[in-house]
Amino acid sequence: MTRKKVIYGNWKMNQNLAEVRTFFNELSSFKPDWKCVAGIAPQFIHIPEVLSLAGSLNVKVGAQNASHKNNGAFTGDISPLSLTDMGVHFTLIGHSERRSIFKEDDELLNEKTKLALTHGLEVVFCIGETLEQRKSGNTFKVIETQLANGLKDLEKSSLKKIILAYEPVWAIGTGVTATPKQAGEVHTFIRNYLKEKTNFDSEETVILYGGSVKPDNVFELLSHEDIDGALVGGASLKARDFADLCNEASKF
Ligand code: 13P
Repeated sequence: MTRKKVIYGNWKMNQNLAEVRTFFNELSSFKPDWKCVAGIAPQFIHIPEVLSLAGSLNVKVGAQNASHKNNGAFTGDISPLSLTDMGVHFTLIGHSERRSIFKEDDELLNEKTKLALTHGLEVVFCIGETLEQRKSGNTFKVIETQLANGLKDLEKSSLKKIILAYEPVWAIGTGVTATPKQAGEVHTFIRNYLKEKTNFDSEETVILYGGSVKPDNVFELLSHEDIDGALVGGASLKARDFADLCNEASKF
């Protein structure tokens, strides 16, 4: 089955306002006409600006996180309701930096995921093992636990709106990319897990790979039948690279 390839950029805590504007100016000068689905998740504060710049380019806008609550005394948090209110299309949940630096655990991530989906946000649920876990042969066990806990009690109708992102921690920002075989076997495992454990027809589920994806390695990765796209950090910050990633993804 052919799923449309997806390129989502995660800008993390990068780009100032001038750089945001330059990025979209440059991107529009390339007259993008991609067949893939493209999206950018900027810092929260730049979301309104990015929404106004990205719309005409057919680039979806995402958040990098969303609260587990709708509103109330949660200083510093951003409600998923405010995100949909603004016109945000998707949110990342459970990025490894949220898990390790901000200590977000499976239970919290499960709450966040359920709430965001309730409000119609597309959730890009991120999972991945550390180098230590891979070396000790625990990759699939870690992935299975993250899936079981993170997607706990999700309705089938919600699973339909979820994108999974496999981002091995050892490949994030390191310049070391998983080989298509390494990434592909985990993607296949994820698809089969969904099929078997949730009884959900996961053939339609989009599963992204993230971790040192660049214009020159993205085609090979996306050539694997279970790798439906990429979640890109560093290489999504420059308009030329982002456009090249989308051009490659449009070849499928
Ligand atoms: P890099 O592409 O910079 O390795 O980052 C990957 C990532 O964390 C995307 O969410």
